[in-house]
Amino acid sequence: MSLSFEGRVVLVTGAGGGLGKQYALAFAERGASVIVNDLGADTKGGGKSSAAADKVVEEIRAKGGKAVANYESVEDGEKLIQTALDAFGRIDVVVNNAGILRDRSFPRTSDLDWDLIQRVHLRGSFLVTRAAWNHMKSQKFGRIIMTASAAGIYGNFGQANYSAAKLGMLGLANTLAIEGRKYNIHCNTIAPVAGSRLTETVMPPDLVASLKPEYVAPLVLWLCHEQCQETGGLFEVGAGWIGKLRWERSQGCTVRRKNQPTTPEAVRDQWDRICDFTDATKPTTVQESLQSMVSVLSRVESEGEVDANPTAAAPSAALTSGINPTEAVGQKLPPTTFSFNHTQCILYALGVGMSTKDPDHLRFLYEGHQDFSCLPTFGVILSQAAMMEGGLSSVPGLNIDFTQVLHGEQYLELYQPLPTSGKLTSEATIADVLDKGSGAVILLDVNTYSGDKLVCYNQFSVFVVGAGGFGGKRTSEKAKPPLPPPKRAPDAVVIDSTTRDQAALYRLSGDWNPLHIDPSFAAMGGFKAPILHGLCSFGFAARHVLKQFANNDPSRFKAIKVRFVKPVMPGQSLQTEMWKEGNRIYIQCKVKETDAVVLAGAYVDLHGGSEASPEDLAQGGGLQSELVFAEISRRIKDMGPEMVKRVNAVFGWEVTKDGKSPAQWTIDLKNGSGSVHKGPYSGKVDVTFTLSDEDFVQVVQGQLNPQKAFFSGRLKVRGNIQLSQKLEVILKDHAKL
Ligand code: NAI
Repeated sequence: MSLSFEGRVVLVTGAGGGLGKQYALAFAERGASVIVNDLGADTKGGGKSSAAADKVVEEIRAKGGKAVANYESVEDGEKLIQTALDAFGRIDVVVNNAGILRDRSFPRTSDLDWDLIQRVHLRGSFLVTRAAWNHMKSQKFGRIIMTASAAGIYGNFGQANYSAAKLGMLGLANTLAIEGRKYNIHCNTIAPVAGSRLTETVMPPDLVASLKPEYVAPLVLWLCHEQCQETGGLFEVGAGWIGKLRWERSQGCTVRRKNQPTTPEAVRDQWDRICDFTDATKPTTVQESLQSMVSVLSRVESEGEVDANPTAAAPSAALTSGINPTEAVGQKLPPTTFSFNHTQCILYALGVGMSTKDPDHLRFLYEGHQDFSCLPTFGVILSQAAMMEGGLSSVPGLNIDFTQVLHGEQYLELYQPLPTSGKLTSEATIADVLDKGSGAVILLDVNTYSGDKLVCYNQFSVFVVGAGGFGGKRTSEKAKPPLPPPKRAPDAVVIDSTTRDQAALYRLSGDWNPLHIDPSFAAMGGFKAPILHGLCSFGFAARHVLKQFANNDPSRFKAIKVRFVKPVMPGQSLQTEMWKEGNRIYIQCKVKETDAVVLAGAYVDLHGGSEASPEDLAQGGGLQSELVFAEISRRIKDMGPEMVKRVNAVFGWEVTKDGKSPAQWTIDLKNGSGSVHKGPYSGKVDVTFTLSDEDFVQVVQGQLNPQKAFFSGRLKVRGNIQLSQKLEVILKDHAKL
């Protein structure tokens, strides 16, 4: 469909010749009613004549078009717009094109040279556009063109006055684009090249002849059409070629360190890096431009003190601080609800790295699985809306810049296994506000309910950069503190790789921060690439514990605490180190490739069952073997150390059921008075037997011959097979089991 301007009223300033004339003709040809403005001045702004505008109007009318002339200077902006209103009743498009030149080398530029140029180009464009603005605003349509120049963009010898005015117009356009956006007023800037009387003194005649103004007009028409959504753009155009320009900014370099003076020497020493455009960013707004600086504030200030996982959402233009803890603490946020079904549970499980490669993961990935369950750490998803939806900003006494928020720590406790669908309600309370100097920490307690039953509790520790110094306390008894791991080698280590798309997948569970997907946004935050969500690594670590120490049984999960230390890049491997101390599993998570600690002070609390105590086993995971080991455990206690000494071996069992990953038991008949362990065993195991739950029970009941089971492949043995003889004695001794 051809682009029509029927019904549109277009003002072209300086349309008596050159580019302006071509615009006027082209608009009129496509049905626009055109105001052909031209003062009829000479190229230096002297003289005045109506002839130029009249001739163009005549030409348009001769072709059956609609046009009126206006002979005012653009410095009388109101009058130009009045002509449009008088003749056609409205104004839709303003093309600021009028221009003159007064080229001089800089020291020879007179006040008049300077002022005239500013007046015609910059002030003229301002006055004409301002006169049209409210009409455009009330009709919710407007298209404005500013005419800049390569001389302004790049500089040009002898054109200091003109360069300044032309780039001034670009600045004007940038802001008009922002202010006009919501009224459908678009403002774009062109830097044209065309043969005209302005260029005939600087270009050879054949170039002047061949760089026709007609080649520029199509861009102007497109930018002024209602279909065109471009605004705030800058285009170079000439000879039928059009290109768009934008700003590029180097990655830059921070030359400041905490508590140290910032020196010019530091700037000198980093000069190459400051000016290195490798991986340059392309900021398009003041906010984007400021973001990297604000993030430097947080990074420098947090050096060695606050480690945090940035979750800053939108950038901000200013840091404001106004915290009144007495007012804020205890305030409740508006309740949020979260409706979900198996889809969200599965998506979350995939987001934290579960895979069908591990048959044991199927219970979290397949809604048709008999034990289909929701991963316990999905509990953070249930309640994160309280954080994400900006509820904090409505809290009295928390007048802070919420775009400067870093996720510092997380605590989650479940009071029942999470449902796999439902509509849950979360109530969030400001538990405390702490003053850490460089920032404030807000402790947000969120209780999540199903009906009136409490399902889980989350504590988000939110670090707000630059919001400290309000004279508050540094610590709180309400905080769930991170705890360091025991000082010994970990009892278990799990290494798991994240995929390149881990963050892209995880964000679908509701954390839409572009920091995790948009490379330019990540670059603004000072990252080489989008980073993984801290809560994604948190999910990885939690499920490592669940697998290692709770046989993937979500009902065993009680609570988790982590401190976010450093970001993880999607594709890196996570190494979860675990220390078991009773029912508490301390964890530390590192990036394997760099050895950097990413989750610290972390732990998972499990509900009972880690020791093979009869009580736990009685309510255990449904294996008949549970009962056998419970009984063995009891009998070992009766047996006494002599018997243990006689056997002098550690036996391991891997008992399988329904293709799930095996349950593990270890009978230690070497150390002390003997013991039975359930789950992974950190010591040396002499011999390990793998068999099904059913076969195990048959063996101990004497119904299945272990040798036969071994040769038929139903029983597998690793390690010192000879020791199995001793074991047979024990089992036979207890054959009445
Ligand atoms: P031009 O001299 O042919 O057209 C400019 C028109 O503006 C003239 O008809 C003149 O009478 C009119 N004018 C001057 N002062 C006025 C005033 N106070 N009020 C109303 N009208 C006034 O020049 P050209 O080349 O067509 O330039 C058009 C615009 O494009 C100018 O703003 C110029 O600075 C800009 N430009 C042109 C380039 C080129 O290669 N031709 C290069 C870069 C920018």
